[in-house]
Amino acid sequence: MDLGLKGKVAIVTGSGSGIGRQIALTLAGEGANIVINDVDEGKIKSVASEVRSLGVKALEAKVDITSWEAVNSMVENTLKEFGKIDILVNNAGVGAFGLFADLDRKSWEPDIKVNIYGVLNCCKAVIKHMIERKYGKIVSIASDAGRVGEPYFAVYSGAKAFIIGFSKALAKELGRYMINVNVVSPGTTKTPLVEPLISNPDIVKNMLKAYAIRRLGEPTDIANAVAFLVSDVSSWITGQTISVSGGYSMI
Ligand SMILES: NC(=O)c1ccc[n+]([C@@H]2O[C@H](COP(=O)([O-])OP(=O)(O)OC[C@H]3O[C@@H](n4cnc5c(N)ncnc54)[C@H](O)[C@@H]3O)[C@@H](O)[C@H]2O)c1
Repeated sequence: MDLGLKGKVAIVTGSGSGIGRQIALTLAGEGANIVINDVDEGKIKSVASEVRSLGVKALEAKVDITSWEAVNSMVENTLKEFGKIDILVNNAGVGAFGLFADLDRKSWEPDIKVNIYGVLNCCKAVIKHMIERKYGKIVSIASDAGRVGEPYFAVYSGAKAFIIGFSKALAKELGRYMINVNVVSPGTTKTPLVEPLISNPDIVKNMLKAYAIRRLGEPTDIANAVAFLVSDVSSWITGQTISVSGGYSMI
């Protein structure tokens, strides 16, 4: 199936690592030009060179998505470089681990800033342009933690649930402009984020009892769903949250 992504322009936040890196590579493999956003310059450069080796353009954007001004300038630079933005993938995310009763208040501030303000900043910064063009695809990466509530990740679960509710409302506001807004909700996927957990075989064995398909996710599992949702093949799908989690949650 041709997804028709050749020549499209996609901003992928947090694409220096893990799932975001794979989303960037998968969309680039389909012919899209990619804005590689992260806070880590080394990772940005490495993924940008992987993207370019696929024969498309990469714009490097070392930007902290929690800063409205910085996100705005990333969007302006993207428009200067490519003249348009077709796709926004809100992928960057962080999660504080620990029982809520034990966590220091400061430790979960990044959960709110990155997972909530980051998504709000990026959506707000691109939609004016998308509305003018009457075209756009926004996909945000939530988590099944946000659908079922994950102990030891209480604030993260709440922040990811925010993304799901916000995306439904935004989909209703923007559908008339041919802008699709959807959410991909991963289960535990092999990336540096969860390395401390999944490097312990006993934890993984226990964890997999809750997965109908008894394996952890690969970044490609998530990236393939994103590629489908940012393409016109799925243009009548909006406001949806699709779990890509081996059946961890079935809602
Ligand atoms: N890996 C999993 O098991 C899993 C499960 C469910 C959901 N998710 C979600 O998938 C997304 C990607 O996670 P991952 O596992 O690839 O994590 P990761 O830690 O490998 O990658 C996240 C990237 O985001 C970047 N980032 C963090 N804060 C940023 C900021 N303020 N501005 C710009 N970039 C920033 C980091 O530098 C990093 O490169 C996250 O939203 C995460 O919550 C992951």
